[in-house]
Amino acid sequence: MEFTPGTIIMERCEILANFSEDQEVLTRTYLTSEHRRAAKVVAAWMEEAGMAVHMDAVGNIIGRLEGQRPGLPAIMIGSHLDTVTDSGKYDGVLGVVTAISCVAELHRRRRRSLPFAVEIIGFGEEEGIRFRSTLIGSRAVAGTLDNAILDHRGRDGLTFREALARFGLDGSKIQQAARRPDEVLAYIELHIEQGPILETHGVPVGVVSAIAGDTRLAASIRGLAGHAGTVPMAMRKDALTAAAECILSVEKTCRTQGLVGTVGHLETYPGSINVIPGHTFFTADIRSDDDHRRQVAVDAICRDLQTICESRGVRLNLEKTHESSSCPCSPWLSQQLAEAVRREGFLPMFLQSGAGHDAMAMVDLCEVAMLFVRCEAGISHNPAETVRLGDAEVGARALLQFLENFQPPPAGAKDAVADGSATKAAG
Ligand code: HGY
Ligand code: MN
Ligand code: MN
Repeated sequence: MEFTPGTIIMERCEILANFSEDQEVLTRTYLTSEHRRAAKVVAAWMEEAGMAVHMDAVGNIIGRLEGQRPGLPAIMIGSHLDTVTDSGKYDGVLGVVTAISCVAELHRRRRRSLPFAVEIIGFGEEEGIRFRSTLIGSRAVAGTLDNAILDHRGRDGLTFREALARFGLDGSKIQQAARRPDEVLAYIELHIEQGPILETHGVPVGVVSAIAGDTRLAASIRGLAGHAGTVPMAMRKDALTAAAECILSVEKTCRTQGLVGTVGHLETYPGSINVIPGHTFFTADIRSDDDHRRQVAVDAICRDLQTICESRGVRLNLEKTHESSSCPCSPWLSQQLAEAVRREGFLPMFLQSGAGHDAMAMVDLCEVAMLFVRCEAGISHNPAETVRLGDAEVGARALLQFLENFQPPPAGAKDAVADGSATKAAG
């Protein structure tokens, strides 16, 4: 019977899109009841696929299919179940749902003769929307999540520890989510490209060569609230016009130095039409595939923001809320993904990822590789995000080919992976 999971993959992405904390748009943040309901449905699909399922100490949902004997090291396949605000239906969930279809097929073919186990992980808080620090679920599995994060306050005011407790988890146990390197052969992530390259080249899937590094900043500016009608312009300490000059400065530095920089969130207080803003808060997300170039740009941006605020007589508080190094994908793993794509009749295309992924955290535990699936017009982090059924099916078939033909690393291959790709999150 041919493996044609396109329909069920698309149907399941639709089903998961129903779990949203907002009636109008798709938003599913970490450790919410919607997260729990989505994890429950994913757990049921994992069990149908023959997997033993559990939730770990930070709310990741994990399924395991044993190999030819119990307890073998696993190929881990994962992605995230949380979304951004007003999200598309495929970012993250496509990788989890596709992996489940592949394992169900392995189980159907009774491929218990595999010399390894297969685990699927649906991660929480990849996006960092709730706690402003990204890759929390995958950092916990990789053993790089610092307990200090337990006191991080989320955007709803609860600390991570309090949010875990409300979700039924014990913050004192988050280190139990960490896995040992000897338990894992490799980590593979299938994900939508979230960019236009595959579509531009007319190919349904691609193999990721490296993932760009990312620095996230949180800036708070305190000026002096005042009457919009009485304070002369030269005497103002306007926190919003200061923020505006800062935001354009971030854009200018990134444009001129060949990076990407985004100010995605801005708050102003008190937000009244006739009051000079006394306080503003904004975030900055700065990325490059070249870590040195990103560091130089971030240092320049921090200096410039300070200078701008001093010249305007307002106070700046700047915090680095996340930092992840660029992450090279493992050559011996990526070559096997490329071979799997070739087996499916397509010429494998290698491309960089400007988007961050859980693989950036998992690289501190094991070697990683990623398979991208084309998304229409490269649109993502947008409800218009679209994946064709045919492309989803090619992605699944290539992933199954990879699993069926996986070869452990030849001696010394692991050294081929550039080191220093650790994910060091400030949070
Ligand atoms: O921000 C990112 O690149 C990813 O979607 N978390
Ligand atoms: Mn995303
Ligand atoms: Mn994603």
